[in-house]
Amino acid sequence: MSVENPDGTSSELVFFVNGKKVLEKHAEPETTLLQYLLGLPGTKLGCGEGGCGACTVMVSRYDREAQTVRHFSVNACLAPVCSMHGMAVTTVEGIGSVKHGLHPVQERLAASHGSQCGFCTPGIIMSMYTLLRNNPQPSIATMEKAFEGNLCRCTGYRPILDGFRTFTKEYCQMGENCCRNKNNNQKQEEGTASRLVNGVDYVPLDPSQDPIFPPELRNTEQYDRDYLVYRGERVTWYRPHTLAELLDLKSQFPDAKLVIGNTEIGIEMKFKKMKYPVLINPSHVPELVKVEHTEAGIRFGGSVTLSRIDEELKLALEKYPDQQTRVFTAVIEMLRWFAGYQIRNVAAVAGNIITASPISDLNPLFLACGAMLQVHSKERGLREVQMNEKFFLGYRRTAVNQDEIVLNITLPFTAKTKYFAGYKQAYRREDDIATVNAGMLVEFEDNSNVIKELSLAYGGMAITTVMPTRTLTEVVGRHWDDRLVDDVCRLLTEEMPLAAGSPGGMVEYRRSLTLSFFFKFYLTVQQQLQTMHIPTSKVPSYFQSATTLFHKDPSRSSQIFQEVAPGQLQQDPVGRPLGHFSAAKQVAGEAIYIDDIPKMHNELYIGFVMSNKAYANIISVDPSAALAMPGVVDYICHKDVPGHNSWGAAVQDDEEIFASKQVLTQGQIIGAILAETQAQAQRAADSVKVEYEELEPVITIKEAIKAGSYHRPPNSISCGDVEAGFQQADHVLEGESHMGGQEHFYLEDHATLAVPRGEDGEMEMFVATQNPSETQHVAAEALDIPANRIVVRVKRLGGGFGGKETRSIVFSTPCAIAANKLGRPVRVMLDRDEDMVMSGGRHPFLARYKVMDRALFHSDNAYKIPNMKVTGYVCKTNTPSNTAFRGFGGPQGMMMIRELNLYQEGDRTHFGQELSPCFIQKCFDECVKQSDFLRRKTEAGSLVHIYQDGSVLLTHGGVEMGQGLHTKMIQVASRALGIPASKIHISETGTNTVPNTSATAASASSDLNGMAVMNACKTLLERLEPVMRDNPKGTWEEWVKAAYFRRIGLSTTGFYKTPGIGFDFESGKGKPFNYFSYGAACSEVLRTDIVFDVGLSLNPAIDIGQIEGAFTQGYGLMMMEQVKMSPKGFMFTRGPGNYKIPGFGDIPVEFNVTLLKGSVNEKAVYSSKAIGEPPLFLSSSVFFAAKEAISAARADAGLHGNFRLDSPATPERIRMACEDQFTQRFPKPEEGTYTPWFVDL
Ligand SMILES: Cc1cc2nc3c(=O)[nH]c(=O)nc-3n(C[C@H](O)[C@H](O)[C@H](O)COP(=O)(O)OP(=O)(O)OC[C@H]3O[C@@H](n4cnc5c(N)ncnc54)[C@H](O)[C@@H]3O)c2cc1C
Ligand code: FES
Ligand code: FES
Repeated sequence: MSVENPDGTSSELVFFVNGKKVLEKHAEPETTLLQYLLGLPGTKLGCGEGGCGACTVMVSRYDREAQTVRHFSVNACLAPVCSMHGMAVTTVEGIGSVKHGLHPVQERLAASHGSQCGFCTPGIIMSMYTLLRNNPQPSIATMEKAFEGNLCRCTGYRPILDGFRTFTKEYCQMGENCCRNKNNNQKQEEGTASRLVNGVDYVPLDPSQDPIFPPELRNTEQYDRDYLVYRGERVTWYRPHTLAELLDLKSQFPDAKLVIGNTEIGIEMKFKKMKYPVLINPSHVPELVKVEHTEAGIRFGGSVTLSRIDEELKLALEKYPDQQTRVFTAVIEMLRWFAGYQIRNVAAVAGNIITASPISDLNPLFLACGAMLQVHSKERGLREVQMNEKFFLGYRRTAVNQDEIVLNITLPFTAKTKYFAGYKQAYRREDDIATVNAGMLVEFEDNSNVIKELSLAYGGMAITTVMPTRTLTEVVGRHWDDRLVDDVCRLLTEEMPLAAGSPGGMVEYRRSLTLSFFFKFYLTVQQQLQTMHIPTSKVPSYFQSATTLFHKDPSRSSQIFQEVAPGQLQQDPVGRPLGHFSAAKQVAGEAIYIDDIPKMHNELYIGFVMSNKAYANIISVDPSAALAMPGVVDYICHKDVPGHNSWGAAVQDDEEIFASKQVLTQGQIIGAILAETQAQAQRAADSVKVEYEELEPVITIKEAIKAGSYHRPPNSISCGDVEAGFQQADHVLEGESHMGGQEHFYLEDHATLAVPRGEDGEMEMFVATQNPSETQHVAAEALDIPANRIVVRVKRLGGGFGGKETRSIVFSTPCAIAANKLGRPVRVMLDRDEDMVMSGGRHPFLARYKVMDRALFHSDNAYKIPNMKVTGYVCKTNTPSNTAFRGFGGPQGMMMIRELNLYQEGDRTHFGQELSPCFIQKCFDECVKQSDFLRRKTEAGSLVHIYQDGSVLLTHGGVEMGQGLHTKMIQVASRALGIPASKIHISETGTNTVPNTSATAASASSDLNGMAVMNACKTLLERLEPVMRDNPKGTWEEWVKAAYFRRIGLSTTGFYKTPGIGFDFESGKGKPFNYFSYGAACSEVLRTDIVFDVGLSLNPAIDIGQIEGAFTQGYGLMMMEQVKMSPKGFMFTRGPGNYKIPGFGDIPVEFNVTLLKGSVNEKAVYSSKAIGEPPLFLSSSVFFAAKEAISAARADAGLHGNFRLDSPATPERIRMACEDQFTQRFPKPEEGTYTPWFVDL
């Protein structure tokens, strides 16, 4: 029951979390559900903008009209806690736990190896759980769609889908043995296995065991009727119950925003720093949540969510004849590509209309069909407004007045003579905003193809959704025939200009899309006219595919690996697909990451003052306004650094911890605010005034080359006689190829908690880093204290991929400085946008080449280039320092080589061929690695304690970031000591246990740490040997106990360094690698097959997981992920909203991975091979498959010969490479004649 506070101003917020009632007397409207759930670490913050799904929870409410409980998945990072009144929230902790038993959803995800770093895992669990609460036996297709709003950067999605497929109605109880699971395309050799999981033993799903909906919420209507007022620090929240109350409030506060899903307002307040002092939540006003069928169509209240619209329209398709529901069909199809479930479940239709985004997906449809709105205000009363070309008045302005509310919208029925469709093109098909979208309607004269009305509305072409009215008028009376297409294209080209350099960029592409969409519509209508027996020309068969809706078959896969030798002891886990050591904790939401460490006494939060210029002198910094803000404790800058204010990942003193005089990139740290909460620290940091003197930045590689801006003299590697080679060549090809950078997009952003320990300057640092030793070293230098006072501890990372190898130090060191100055614990976990602006990514790469055909094409081995010279320049630009990223520079280097020379050969040459004499890979890998400032130390340590009870605590120098390193190390120790893996535990990585460690990077960690672990175990076994000899039949525990009584040391360290590796650029001699990994991939449109050599796999489940994950990440690099920066160095890509990594829907429909049988490797632990990075490059097979397909399309258009396709091959690049009559209308203006909106770095 809502109770007003004694002063009658603030209501009590009542809701349930995991069955427990929450009563909040001081609800803060700006607090999200995620922030409120802080004590429940399972719900994760991955982006804060509804784009990753890490924060997914299930919200349940009682629908009194339908008399049923409705469950929906929700992004807790966007849902205001105030909107939870009367609801029941279920988090991952609420469905199962390690202690009391996992829920089947949790159990199956863990068993299917679907959790690597585990950061995305709880969100994915909750999406699946919600689906099963609504539909206990979904189809595979429904199940696969449930994850449109979830991202995972580690797994490549296949194992997650495999695990959850066991819940679907198509899944057979025979499990993996089911005949349908036999992949006829895959040949399986003897001695190999294809079962990473045995599904038959799963605990069955029993919906009766699920937590019940709180009876109080079902029985008490009052929660829905309460008029609520929540007064916060800066915002007041009202929830009226009646329309009259709502209109009163809107009259009283005309500037107030109505908030329903908060999927726009939340973003505006957090990222665009908008201030809305009054928010009105009309989610419980009956008129706004009503759905009515009228003569004209279906009328949806303004607060009706998009999921409900989808549901109602699908029901309407069953109820009304097809021709009447053509608008409904198009809206359903558009909603299929509108965000993910979590957003559609809360976002309302009026929210989409009134936001008036130029790329709204619904507004083009509403305009094209002339949807009718009823709007209402206390002063103006009720009026009808049609959505047409006059509806949008300007950027985010509509014909609905400020004091009016949208009561409802009517989606019209279509007459028999009306045809309707919607189109959307985005970077990623699922959960992405549109590049261009459109709604299209045509009405014909009775029984003819003569146009009575044409209505086209486009999004993404101007500052509002637009209708090309002149075109639409001119075509009335025309026949629906091929000549019409030409004329409409000409008219649209004239009527929808887009200046070069327009916001959003991709101008020629966007303009081409407007025509391509119309052409699709033309063909689709033509086909429909035929089915209605209206005379019209036939759609040619080669255009038929343009008229069908996108369809994807459920995914299939196989994983084949070598079985362990028949005699291998049962307890010996090496070579077996052991589950991830932390999987159970991760699926239960119990795995602890930095931000889950409970708040410490006196803890402060750090908010960084970042440069918003790419290159500038700092004239002045004034933190006075910030210091006066609530909760702010201090401001620190370079003056507060007791020791060195500079450090360098590759070059000593290469960058400043706090910029003192000059900033060299956007996002560089100038200072930091310390405050009581994150929000206070961030707001205050934004208020620090920095005055700059701007300098001309160098942003792109080309600019750096022009300016001669390099980090150091170039490195060159050559072999053979290049000049002679050119002389012998029939043809010499010259050109250049560009590969874009890539954002790491680990799901856990950079995080640190620095805790001063008071005595002797001691400090404990919990850091999300791949490099504890370097973190310790830089912090000690900055604080001017010996390294022995600093302990850096790493439990696990929510992904790293190289991004936390050195860049974590940029954030951990200021925390240490602040903690040292104030003597209080200091924490940071960056928001996604901060992380993307500040932390750097994979280096972009530009290759200029001159190659000789004959020399290449006549070589025996496609990869063997007898005469070659490669020179690598490392460009110095004013963009955030780039860093290691899975594969270092290898993929970029290899991509260029393939691009230049091997494109025709495809992946075939990898199969079974000896690569070790291949100069290219060696040369390029090394050259590119050097370009990455790579400083790899190849040594590792371990520490093994055996306790009296026989349990073993293992510590090694590597960091667990999802790659299964700890699991593999346990397997190594298990075999080395001859004890079951269950007796061995790894707690964390710490500089106080294993010092001077190498970064966990470069795929070398299992090799190095594995050997160090093995060495330590060998030492211990040698020490135990006399005891074992004396009691050969004894148990491990007996031997350990006996050793203890004989005072044998049961603790030891291990050490290992890779022998004899190094390379000298001067002489061009040396052995840069210990051994080579081989792999091959073959991709066609819907299928990928990978064969990979991992030696004798330590753990096939982990190795296959790494291959699939790396391949998918590489797919992003090659095909999707485009880092966008303005010519002045402003980063546009700041989160999942505008930087698209592959989602669930992007993996190959058929994805087969085979670990090469019979491979051995004497140079690494138990004959295994490194796995983290090498498979990434195999995704280039998709790039080349796409290039092949483009070649075919170009050939159809009469275009032959070479063409340029840079990576990533985004939809824009692919479309523009497939030149045709539409793209040719929009030639690219010459470089230098305009300022592009974003540049190719
Ligand atoms: C991750 C993510 C993905 C998205 N994907 C898409 C996408 O694919 N396509 C797309 O088009 N959009 C997308 N959006 C944008 C957004 O989800 C939609 O615009 C959504 O419909 C907004 O609804 P809401 O209820 O959340 O609006 P809110 O944020 O609650 O409100 C938005 C605006 O509408 C006004 N408003 C709300 N109701 C009324 C009313 N009854 N009368 C008058 N004014 C009203 C509010 O005052 C406010 O100005 C996405 C957003 C996110 C965060
Ligand atoms: S944290 Fe909520 S969706 Fe990413
Ligand atoms: S396991 Fe999914 S992001 Fe790491």
